[in-house]
Amino acid sequence: MAQIFSTRADARLRLVLIVGAALILLIGAAAFAYVRSGNAWAIGRPAEQPVPFSHAVHAGGLGLDCRFCHAGVERTAEAGMPSAETCLGCHERVWNVTAQFAPLRAAIAQGTAVEWSSVSRLPDHARFDHAAHTQAGVGCETCHGKVEEMPRTVKAESLSMSFCLDCHRDPLANQQPAGAVFARDAPPAAELQAMRPHGLQAQRYEHYGIEVSPLTRCSTCHQ
Ligand code: HEC
Ligand code: HEC
Ligand code: HEC
Ligand code: HEC
Ligand code: HEC
Repeated sequence: MAQIFSTRADARLRLVLIVGAALILLIGAAAFAYVRSGNAWAIGRPAEQPVPFSHAVHAGGLGLDCRFCHAGVERTAEAGMPSAETCLGCHERVWNVTAQFAPLRAAIAQGTAVEWSSVSRLPDHARFDHAAHTQAGVGCETCHGKVEEMPRTVKAESLSMSFCLDCHRDPLANQQPAGAVFARDAPPAAELQAMRPHGLQAQRYEHYGIEVSPLTRCSTCHQ
């Protein structure tokens, strides 16, 4: 059979195919690396806030308990955010910089909540419950990092589905006694061993005989 393409054209075609294939692989690898990186999950990036708030100053330096401002965290699904009154309770007297706290005064005047933005908001199809975790002895740091050292609040973990599932498959290793969650100092190892974590599921089972559903079931986190 006669040669249709010259040897030169053949080599060129081969080159184009090889370069094309390499490009496709490269783009795929880059996309994979991006999805796997903290960047895609906005880890480490602070959000714009109405008042520049520092956990390092208030929770770290002043030693305020998390529950002082996030009052729902032990009893309800939502951790809750501090009202303008909570801040101004102190700031009418200390560090009273009028311009900086104007958004707080405006919220009080209009009877609205302060519009704090969130770095950890999940999509609507996913469900989360703070009380379940606090009562099961999962510390804030596990999901939010060392907040008390942050001058500006940033996301520390992806809070992706695989992050949740990594623990839900075997939570015991990450649980402490519930009382240890807000303790200033970590309890001694021996004490931790002796106190079994006692989550909401266990309580529900004991009190009402409601079966414990596996923490990995889709409906645990999706309606
Ligand atoms: C228990 C009292 C108390 C409460 C409640 C409180 N603060 Fe403060 N805050 C202080 C003190 C004291 C300082 C000064 C700290 C220093 O000098 O190191 C301060 C400093 C500040 C500063 C300036 C320093 C900085 O860079 O952070 C801002 C802004 C601030 N607070 C905002 C807030 C906001 C917003 C709230 C409510 C979410 C709040 N504070 C609640 C006591 C409080
Ligand atoms: C004086 C009030 C105050 C105290 C005490 C406090 N926080 Fe906060 N927290 C805030 C405010 C105001 C915001 C919103 C502004 C921001 O993100 O910095 C916030 C935001 C957060 C967020 C980010 C939530 C999101 O979705 O963006 C986390 C996580 C958090 N706090 C955890 C903690 C932990 C853990 C402690 C205890 C170590 C604590 N906070 C103590 C006032 C407080
Ligand atoms: C198992 C992981 C996990 C633990 C433990 C945890 N959180 Fe959260 N937190 C989340 C997730 C996920 C969100 C976003 C919830 C949503 O979008 O529904 C969140 C949201 C928040 C918010 C924002 C609430 C709002 O209304 O915008 C605050 C504040 C907060 N957490 C504080 C805390 C504190 C304080 C603790 C410890 C007592 C804690 N969290 C423990 C995962 C966790
Ligand atoms: C470090 C471990 C850990 C991580 C991370 C974690 N969880 Fe959990 N989760 C638990 C434990 C422990 C329980 C409570 C089990 C019990 O009640 O005994 C729980 C309970 C829950 C419940 C309540 C189930 C019920 O029946 O009331 C929901 C909803 C939930 N988790 C969602 C999430 C989501 C969404 C994430 C990721 C953003 C997440 N969890 C991350 C350990 C974890
Ligand atoms: C422990 C909690 C948890 C369980 C159990 C869970 N998911 Fe998820 N899932 C999440 C969270 C959190 C997200 C949202 C992550 C994000 O995009 O921020 C998510 C996201 C998703 C998404 C959207 C994917 C995307 O890229 O946005 C789908 C689809 C999904 N889950 C399906 C399932 C199915 C099917 C099951 C059961 C086999 C399941 N999930 C079990 C927590 C969970």
